[in-house]
Amino acid sequence: MTDSKKSATLTIDDASFDLPIYSPTAGPDVLDIRKLYAQAGVFTYDPGFTSTASCDSTITFIDGGKGELLHRGYPIDQLAGKSHYLEVCYLLLYGELPSATELEDFEERVTHHTMIHEQMANFFRGFRRDAHPMAIITGVVGAMSAFYHDSTDVSDPWQREVASIRLIAKMPTIVAMAYKYTIGQPFVYPRNDLDYASNFLRMCFAVPAEEYEVNPILARAMDRIFTLHADHEQNASTSTVRLASSSGANPFACIAAGVACLWGPAHGGANQACLEMLREIGTVDRIPEFIARAKDKDDPFRLMGFGHRVYKNVDPRATVLKQSADEVLELLGVENNPLLQVAKELERTALNDPYFVEKKLFPNVDFYSGIILEAMGFPTSMFTPIFALSRTVGWISQWKEMISDPGMKIGRPRQLYTGATLRDYVDIENR
Ligand code: SDX
Repeated sequence: MTDSKKSATLTIDDASFDLPIYSPTAGPDVLDIRKLYAQAGVFTYDPGFTSTASCDSTITFIDGGKGELLHRGYPIDQLAGKSHYLEVCYLLLYGELPSATELEDFEERVTHHTMIHEQMANFFRGFRRDAHPMAIITGVVGAMSAFYHDSTDVSDPWQREVASIRLIAKMPTIVAMAYKYTIGQPFVYPRNDLDYASNFLRMCFAVPAEEYEVNPILARAMDRIFTLHADHEQNASTSTVRLASSSGANPFACIAAGVACLWGPAHGGANQACLEMLREIGTVDRIPEFIARAKDKDDPFRLMGFGHRVYKNVDPRATVLKQSADEVLELLGVENNPLLQVAKELERTALNDPYFVEKKLFPNVDFYSGIILEAMGFPTSMFTPIFALSRTVGWISQWKEMISDPGMKIGRPRQLYTGATLRDYVDIENR
């Protein structure tokens, strides 16, 4: 935390209160209100946290006005173009790009933690086959705290490190197993001779009946999708992980809470909802009907994959994914995919419509990702699980940053109470 060089004065009735102001290395100044209630006897009120900084962090910076996303200072388009997911994981976890030796050691550690405890396979078999993979993943990730007791003590830096590597390494295996279980195919074990993305593709699409050759184009596209979803400041699921972790709960339980939060259609579930919307629109000529519905105050319908709490410009991840969609679909020979045509025309129409322009609603990370994932062979139900897999490193990095802060306190917000004031119990015969 930087020192406060200036302050703001809050005046309530005839009392004035000085609120220290801290200036960040990038982004808006913050008002320190930690002592406000003790000094002024009032709470601040910000239900959606639209104007609230919940922590100080050095991991990810977003400039919503410019449409800029930096991980430890490096712009997402450069990382997506020049780096790869495990190198970005190292950067998010440890703060700097690794040397060749550091990267080799990190990749070795992750590779040798990809298998899960054999008995966990039984856990999958308790679910119905038609369970949503996110329901399975939420359960299995939480259950990891029942299998990996030697990395649940958050006060031990070594156990925190082991839990971090285990989660990053095992999420692809768990997500692939959830997929295999829902399609009635046998689980496929990870292989140590494959890179992270190739391993995941093989665990999803290989069958015992024949050899599976990883398509390098798909592996590169998969790795890029992982990278683009790795972390995103204090979004809803990351804030969930931080709040859960503030009680000292073990990392597996906290990450399971993040998975659960990500599932919502307003958050990570939007990629599935967006593809289902594009499919419902079906053809370009029906776009005006859906644009009208999105603008209709009386219609709860929203353009999925559009809008963002922070970005009031194009989400830079959507820009990279749009380019990727063109490349991957062309390389797969499905460049005239009707859904991609509908998506591009929908984007063009919306960005020329005053409603979306005035409200600064642009495509976000979820608008194009589903088109790529579907072209790669994933069903829509696997889109959010892949988002959860990718975001695990972000949740873990933010968790480690918070847990290792000696000033960490349990998160305990207050409220604006508007319920009944004190009243006596009324016996049932008198009601
Ligand atoms: C992710 O936070 C993160 O960083 C999340 C994420 C990450 O990487 O972790 O980036 C991932 O969750 C991306 C967002 C995915 N969700 C969607 O695509 C769902 C559709 N989008 C919306 O539901 C909405 O835009 C949110 C939830 C993303 C943002 O909501 P906000 O910031 O609370 O904004 P809002 O709901 O107050 O909307 C502001 C106005 C409203 O109109 P008014 O009430 O002011 O008249 O814009 C309208 C909204 O009705 N609006 C939309 C719209 N999104 C907002 N209208 C039509 N279609 C939309 N998609």
